Amino acid sequence: MPSARCRSQFLPGTNLEHFRGDERGFATTVVTLTAGALVYHFKLRSHPPPGRPWRRNEIRKRIVVGLTECSMTHTKCLAPGRAWSTHVWVPVLFALVLGVAVAPAPADQYRDRRLIMVRDQIEARGIKNPEVLAVMRTVPRELFVPKSVRPQAYDDHPLPIGFGQTISQPFIVGLMTELLDAKKDYRVLEIGTGSGYQAAILSRLVGEVYSIEIVPELARSAAETLRSLGFRNVTVREGDGYRGWPEKAPFDRIILTAAPPEIPEVLLEELKGGGTLVAPVGVGVQNLVVVQKSADGKTTTRSVLPVRFVPMKEGTE
Ligand SMILES: C[S@@+](CC[C@H](N)C(=O)[O-])C[C@H]1O[C@@H](n2cnc3c(N)ncnc32)[C@H](O)[C@@H]1O
Repeated sequence: MPSARCRSQFLPGTNLEHFRGDERGFATTVVTLTAGALVYHFKLRSHPPPGRPWRRNEIRKRIVVGLTECSMTHTKCLAPGRAWSTHVWVPVLFALVLGVAVAPAPADQYRDRRLIMVRDQIEARGIKNPEVLAVMRTVPRELFVPKSVRPQAYDDHPLPIGFGQTISQPFIVGLMTELLDAKKDYRVLEIGTGSGYQAAILSRLVGEVYSIEIVPELARSAAETLRSLGFRNVTVREGDGYRGWPEKAPFDRIILTAAPPEIPEVLLEELKGGGTLVAPVGVGVQNLVVVQKSADGKTTTRSVLPVRFVPMKEGTE
């Protein structure tokens, strides 16, 4: 079965993850550099070398050198007591003016919306685990949904991700993650990778995440999204969750994000003694349940609340 391993991490303390999809940020950079180059061009033309005009290739060369020098030496030029060279400050000034003129980049808009989502949809409804809340404040949900629904990424409902499937409502992701009671050294199995968002949230809370998705296109795109965003400890596998993942079992925690009529026996077998499984269960009327497996293998199940998930499909293999 094909599987994709994702290895690389976000740099702590940076917002690099927001750059993906930030077309306006890219456009701003291009416009800034072009404007800087134009201004510099006209400045050069008004100061020709003694006795002759600039040659064309000389101007081009000087613009490139000027802009490169600008980016490499601007820190030095800003040092107290140093005169600013004009070929440095003109492009820098332009960058500043454009930076202010252009409305806040979408990255920032999404960050604010993410914080509001956590406050109003998750904390306000009783999710308390500070680690879950912190992770949900950082994972860029907008990058896990199709571009066409990106503006609704932080709305209080599930969203379509193609192939008749959905990314769960943010509150349900928060609730199920809290119910899992994850720890840093845990190995977690997810059934139903979908967009990869739930796997990304888990990735920051546990040691290893193994996620199975039955729709090949979704398995591939989720693996690619997770890889490109640096969620290194997630392994996505295209396959049928009813078969479990025997090569990687047993798991400390198991989460199902598609609803089976009842919990598949194979998944209960793959759960460690002392482990927890969280799943929507039922046909038509579904309940979110938490199954605890004791050290001697006995299970107890409690219902948390009624939910509506896509059904867990039987594979054809
Ligand atoms: C609600 S979506 C999952 C949401 C996902 N966790 C996310 O964060 O986007 C349910 C997913 O389960 C998948 N699925 C359904 N039956 C499955 C099965 N037997 N094995 C694995 N995945 C299955 C669906 O294709 C769908 O992508």
